[in-house]
Amino acid sequence: MSVHSSSSVKRVTTHILQEMKDSGEKISMLTAYDFSMAKIVDSAGIDIVLVGDSASNVMAGHETTLPITLDQMIYHASSVVRAVKRAFIVVDIPFGHYQGNSSEALRSAIRIMKESGAHAVKVEGGSEIKESVSRILSAGVPVMGHLGLTPQSIYKFGTYTVRAKEEAEAKKLLEDAQMLEQCGCFAIVLEKIPAALAQKVAESVKIPVIGIGAGPDVDGQVLVMHDMLGITQEFKPRFLRQYADLQSIMTEAFQNYIKDVKDRKFPTKSESY
Ligand code: KIV
Repeated sequence: MSVHSSSSVKRVTTHILQEMKDSGEKISMLTAYDFSMAKIVDSAGIDIVLVGDSASNVMAGHETTLPITLDQMIYHASSVVRAVKRAFIVVDIPFGHYQGNSSEALRSAIRIMKESGAHAVKVEGGSEIKESVSRILSAGVPVMGHLGLTPQSIYKFGTYTVRAKEEAEAKKLLEDAQMLEQCGCFAIVLEKIPAALAQKVAESVKIPVIGIGAGPDVDGQVLVMHDMLGITQEFKPRFLRQYADLQSIMTEAFQNYIKDVKDRKFPTKSESY
């Protein structure tokens, strides 16, 4: 029995997400960055919309998530907020806007909440950012953690390969997850880590654990919308299930339109005034 059916217009909250974990109902989460796509994914019944800093890749065409700015994240988040009626909306605080000190972290979180109307923020990292996480939470802003392959640290890792395969890194990840729960985070994303470790984390914390490349034994799953729709074709990690081939569908539509224009088949009389 679903704690929260997708036909309901009742807003998803942190409380409902916790109930979903407690009752064993899996949590669905996808990214969105603009009004039109956010409206479609919300109508489909998604539980959490993440305005991810992956916007830096899929919307702006950067190689990494590092260049996107706080103003740009607020612009994307505001567009999503105007579209979404049911899902819980989480926004990434971008690189460089929370790691420096906890006052800056709080200022960034408050700007996101006030200027976009989103419901929570997400930050990458564990013990290194504990003070920032606590400070944001003390202002009443819900925080989602993000551990494992944290893309804002890509130049430190030097590779997009699976994280926490070694015992020391796995131990730190588990401790970081427990620390984030103790601080008061409402959920944690685990990215690209061994499935067995993700299961251990999900069993050792009470808050929801959402995986991306973290196997099936967590409390929910998240994917980047453009990847699962097949709009981006060059990114095909093992964990990505492609649910559509929108690149082919869109290319065909564009080609048909171009041909109709060139052949003077569009517009017709009935499409004119
Ligand atoms: O920015 C993003 O899209 C993310 C997901 C990959 C979890 O952080």
